[in-house]
Amino acid sequence: METKSSMYLSQFPLWFLCFIITLVSSSAWYDDHISLREINSEENFSFPRNFLFGTASSSYQYEGAYLTDGKTLSNWDVFTSIPGKISDGSHGKVAVDHYHRYPEDLDLMEDLGVNSYRLSLSWARILPMGRFGDVNMAGIDHYNSMINDILRRGIEPFVTLTHYDIPQELEFRYGSWLNPQIREDFEHYADICFQYFGNRVKFWSTFNEPNVQVILGYRKGTYPPSQCSKAFGNCTRGDSDIEPLVAAHNIIRSHLAAVNIYRTKYQEEQRGKIGIVMNTIWFEPVSDSLEDRLAVERAQAFYLNWFLDPIVFGRYPREMRKIIGEDLPEFTRDDLKSSKSGLDFIGINQYTSRYAKDCLHSACEPGKGGSRAEGFVYSNAHKDGLPLGEPTGVDWFNIYPQGMEKMLMYTTERYKNIPLYVTENGFGENNTGVLLNDYRRVKFMSNYLDALKRAMRKGADVRGYFTWSLLDNFEWISGYTIRFGLYHVDFDTQERTPRLSASWYKNFIFQHRAQNDYDDA
Ligand code: FCB
Repeated sequence: METKSSMYLSQFPLWFLCFIITLVSSSAWYDDHISLREINSEENFSFPRNFLFGTASSSYQYEGAYLTDGKTLSNWDVFTSIPGKISDGSHGKVAVDHYHRYPEDLDLMEDLGVNSYRLSLSWARILPMGRFGDVNMAGIDHYNSMINDILRRGIEPFVTLTHYDIPQELEFRYGSWLNPQIREDFEHYADICFQYFGNRVKFWSTFNEPNVQVILGYRKGTYPPSQCSKAFGNCTRGDSDIEPLVAAHNIIRSHLAAVNIYRTKYQEEQRGKIGIVMNTIWFEPVSDSLEDRLAVERAQAFYLNWFLDPIVFGRYPREMRKIIGEDLPEFTRDDLKSSKSGLDFIGINQYTSRYAKDCLHSACEPGKGGSRAEGFVYSNAHKDGLPLGEPTGVDWFNIYPQGMEKMLMYTTERYKNIPLYVTENGFGENNTGVLLNDYRRVKFMSNYLDALKRAMRKGADVRGYFTWSLLDNFEWISGYTIRFGLYHVDFDTQERTPRLSASWYKNFIFQHRAQNDYDDA
């Protein structure tokens, strides 16, 4: 009689062929499956009970209502009206109409189970003329209602004072960030916000990504106020070597002034925390040479440490002082006094990583690493034609989850364990239809969260994670062509439709809570 094994053996060639065909045809699934198994390697990890899970947004990208209830023009309202600035010719006049639809959007957040919402305030809504005019009480009322609604749902507001948008009045009047006067304006604005909202807002960030703001606004000229030198971009005026340094200096001094106001006038009674949110890029050396490894340090010095070193240590990074020398602005004694306590936390926006190549010992063009402003580092996502990590349809964005872990460890070590919040991380894809089955976003979030857990295991004091973003929205110079939402938005009807990633994130948060309950039991 034929045994089972001999039967299998007799059919072996057919069976084997089928197996190979299945394996090859499902290799994409197989790759994903493998990486999902790796993800679960951290499955025994549990987040602390009070860890913040949220979604992030910003006023210009979400609110719309650009001239409603006394708001005046912001720099982004003006910039988007200049032909050619935004890839699809769009603007944020309506955006995703969050100004009117926030209750519906908070319903979505409540359903996800998040316990925090990172949002920014529109300065031009609160102080339409800056310190040269009155507080717009309609703007205050709007944010008051919104903050109350957020809290009523058991969600913690995590508020940024300015996420790139400022009243255009300050640009017209004195050239905004290039003028030291802006510090008084920012201080006044921060004071108003603490006064009206600080009894309920316990997390304040002064700025969102000031490094991106000055590099794109004053070195490359692709963001307002579109200033740069010829070699760096297409601008009618500017000085890419000097203006970013001046704008950054005024931003740092404005940050310190706002922190000082908070510490001296409000913090004791209101008991909140104040920090700053930085964009981060993890840099890998393009080769093992000493020159390229030193280039990596300069890359961080000229990107992240440029802002954080002065705020935490009271001076610009060594690499910057060496290269920029006397052109680096100086801090006053008062600035330095307040810098001693310049942060309660650091917000880390982490999306991508790049290779860094030395340009001190090899020739590079200005704008491609060959300038003082860039620290003589060329950073790029490719090496020998191959990408670092996995490319996406978005030009600045490669997927490299290791970068999350390394960036959190780097910040932890350099800034002596200051608490960290991952204030943004998310996946963007080109606008190619509705795409509700966003499996790549789910994989992205799983892998980056896994990297975040590894950093926490190694000792990084990470206290929150905010995904960018709840909804598709206005993606700056890419307009509505890139989508980052857990919810798809039909920009004509404003209808929100959940993607797979929304249910994945909901489940992820649910499991974290269940784990906490289990640990407590
Ligand atoms: C960050 C910005 C945020 C959003 C994401 C995709 O750099 O802070 O507003 O545009 O990128």
